[in-house]
Amino acid sequence: MVAKIIDGHAVARQVRAQCRDISDSLKAGGVTPGLAVIIVGNDPASKVYVANKIKACSEVGLSSTVYAFEAGVEGAVVEAEIERLNADPTVHGILVQLPLPKHFDVRRVLGAISIDKDVDGFHLYNVGGLVLGDTVFPPCTPFGVQKMLEFENIRIEGQNVVVVGASNIVGKPMALMLMQQDATVCICHAKTRDLAQFTILADILVVAAGRPNLITKEMVRTGAVVIDVGINRLPDGRLVGDVDFEGVRQKASYITPVPGGVGPMTVTMLVYNTVHAAKRQADKLGKLGKLAGVKTGESVESLPKAYQAPVPA
Ligand code: GUN
Repeated sequence: MVAKIIDGHAVARQVRAQCRDISDSLKAGGVTPGLAVIIVGNDPASKVYVANKIKACSEVGLSSTVYAFEAGVEGAVVEAEIERLNADPTVHGILVQLPLPKHFDVRRVLGAISIDKDVDGFHLYNVGGLVLGDTVFPPCTPFGVQKMLEFENIRIEGQNVVVVGASNIVGKPMALMLMQQDATVCICHAKTRDLAQFTILADILVVAAGRPNLITKEMVRTGAVVIDVGINRLPDGRLVGDVDFEGVRQKASYITPVPGGVGPMTVTMLVYNTVHAAKRQADKLGKLGKLAGVKTGESVESLPKAYQAPVPA
């Protein structure tokens, strides 16, 4: 068996075309979807990610603004900027690029973002919403994986899913989203003993561990769907995932390449969330209905005050 390669660029193109249609109709009604990106410090990788996000926004016709702060800025200054952006009606999505410098209380900063503008899906409310299957904005990378599975009509209900990597950004939300679709989900992580005894059971294997060649063909069941979220730069400059692509593609039914697999979807789902944030806000919150199979949450107006600007004391 040789796997079908899931082309992330092709799926991304289709999702971006839908986003453009929504964006165009919003613009016709006088609303230009707008994203605000906050970046703190000089991390080169973060700068590249932010540049890619801005480029994706402009390709779909969204407006975007970057707010760059020196690495030594106080958390309160960034939080005050977020409060200002929360109140700005031309801004529909707010994103704080991670990682933040060590002196930041990351949860506090992310908690300052209005739930209705939390297009990264990292606010405690949105994360908690994943547990109940009732989030406003799903986090972009697992949301992108979900879209790719949907695009290929890959059945999730009743399937054995193994997620390798338990990060807050990818592994944990991915597991919750697939569990919500009635998969049987197992999460493995750096301390899992004998990883292969779990991965070999997977009908769908999602790998987000950040270790090149972690998954070899002996660890994969014949016919499995293999989604590689890893992005690793090798000493020779090559970009590879966490999966031994050449070996595993001989055994899997579907596989995502690196680059060109999940990567293009992450930024695309940020655009998707931003356009839908603009639509929600234009519709006076909550009237949009379902966001691609994930139920929209309560409108902020119906939430207790504590959730509207949940910055801990
Ligand atoms: N840093 C690495 N990935 C991400 C992401 O998806 N969003 C943000 N805000 N920061 C990141």
